[in-house]
Amino acid sequence: MRVEAYERFFMILAALLLVLGIVGIAIGALVAGVHVPSPAGRVDPRTLTTTPPFDQPGLRDLGGGKYEAVVIARAWQFQPDQIEVPVGSTVTFTLATPDVIHGFVLTGTNANVMVIPGQIAQVTARFDRPGEYLWVCHEYCGFGHHQMFGKVVVR
Ligand code: CUA
Repeated sequence: MRVEAYERFFMILAALLLVLGIVGIAIGALVAGVHVPSPAGRVDPRTLTTTPPFDQPGLRDLGGGKYEAVVIARAWQFQPDQIEVPVGSTVTFTLATPDVIHGFVLTGTNANVMVIPGQIAQVTARFDRPGEYLWVCHEYCGFGHHQMFGKVVVR
């Protein structure tokens, strides 16, 4: 069977692009550690506020420029709804909800997770520039959904 030169060129190009795509996915998953968000743990929504670390929401200094922010997302507020960290900090947000499904998206970063009853959501962001980084609930959760927001103040 004779294959036109142009046709052969595009067949080879298409095959190369496929291979390139698969290699890209493999590098992303195996080398760069890219993965879909998965629950960092389980927690009973009924006893959330008495279960550590959610019995004491807020910011913890882990040392070395690392922080953990334990945040409860509830209808319709984040608790706490503001944290302050120095420039260059890496903050791991640990989130859970006692009621319905909420979301958490942090502007200026790629932090974006669902906060689902029964699951602990965790996402990490680094703050190299001073400023205010707004976070919002991005999952419609009822009457006061639009009031669910907070911010990271980086100084
Ligand atoms: Cu919580 Cu929308």
